[in-house]
Amino acid sequence: MAKDKVLAYPIIAVNDANTKHLFDNRYGTGQSTVDGILRATNILISGLNFVVVGYGWCGRGLAIRAKGAGAKVIVCEVDPLRALEAVMDGYQVMSLKEAAKIGDVFVTVTGDKNVITKSHFQKMKDGAIVANSGHFNVEIDIPSLEALSQKKRKIKEFVEEYTLDDGRKIFLLGEGRLINLAAAEGHPAVVMDMSFANQAMSVLFLLDKGKKLEKQVYPVPKEIDDEIARMKLKTMGISIDKLTAEQRKYLAGWEEGT
Ligand SMILES: NC(=O)c1ccc[n+]([C@@H]2O[C@H](COP(=O)([O-])OP(=O)(O)OC[C@H]3O[C@@H](n4cnc5c(N)ncnc54)[C@H](O)[C@@H]3O)[C@@H](O)[C@H]2O)c1
Repeated sequence: MAKDKVLAYPIIAVNDANTKHLFDNRYGTGQSTVDGILRATNILISGLNFVVVGYGWCGRGLAIRAKGAGAKVIVCEVDPLRALEAVMDGYQVMSLKEAAKIGDVFVTVTGDKNVITKSHFQKMKDGAIVANSGHFNVEIDIPSLEALSQKKRKIKEFVEEYTLDDGRKIFLLGEGRLINLAAAEGHPAVVMDMSFANQAMSVLFLLDKGKKLEKQVYPVPKEIDDEIARMKLKTMGISIDKLTAEQRKYLAGWEEGT
């Protein structure tokens, strides 16, 4: 919107604060997505081919939890750097076209649209489970799934069984809406505290400096981000070390230590 000059007021991009996405997205979504899938289905994750689509902060939080629960995790990405990270984190990385044939559970965490679509449903195994924990209910192309199906029925809360023309069944969880909010309770307060602290402290920043800002997107000021990390550690009763003046000089300098 800023690029198109249609932003009506300055925006603080709270999601981009380190104390937001590194924690809420990674640890919060990672845990609550597994929680939502389990509450909806009661499947045994262990031994399943668990496909994580999107290896951003949510995706990596989810992947590590699925791996911890014994799944064989497959990651699908469009960003080469993130795909490479997933490889080196020990996951199988392949195109969704390939993963579609072998996945037991598919979870989209991309923020994108039509990520799992007709060509993927056509390849999926009988009994495949599909869920979304990214943004809106457009990550999974539900109209295509409907079009491929001869029958649809709700087999339990948050689980819809689609029977395809060839008899295969695909289970869609939570109507493709965020499964951690649909079937579970979202993230625990103990991680949302930092997200809300970013919002509250950004509002205070806007009250103080907002009039001087342009109609642009601004990051959360680093001092606020760092202060939230400090406060969070304090509430956890954890104290950390401080740089000495000598160390600060050494780290910032170039004359010594090369
Ligand atoms: N469920 C929740 O409670 C919750 C919480 C926080 C964020 N989110 C949402 O989850 C989404 C992901 O958040 P994030 O912080 O991980 O974002 P991110 O930008 O770090 O990661 C998204 C990843 O998806 C990849 N991607 C995009 N399109 C793709 C496609 N077609 N196929 C494969 N990969 C694709 C991108 O390359 C990127 O690496 C966002 O929409 C965010 O709003 C959900």
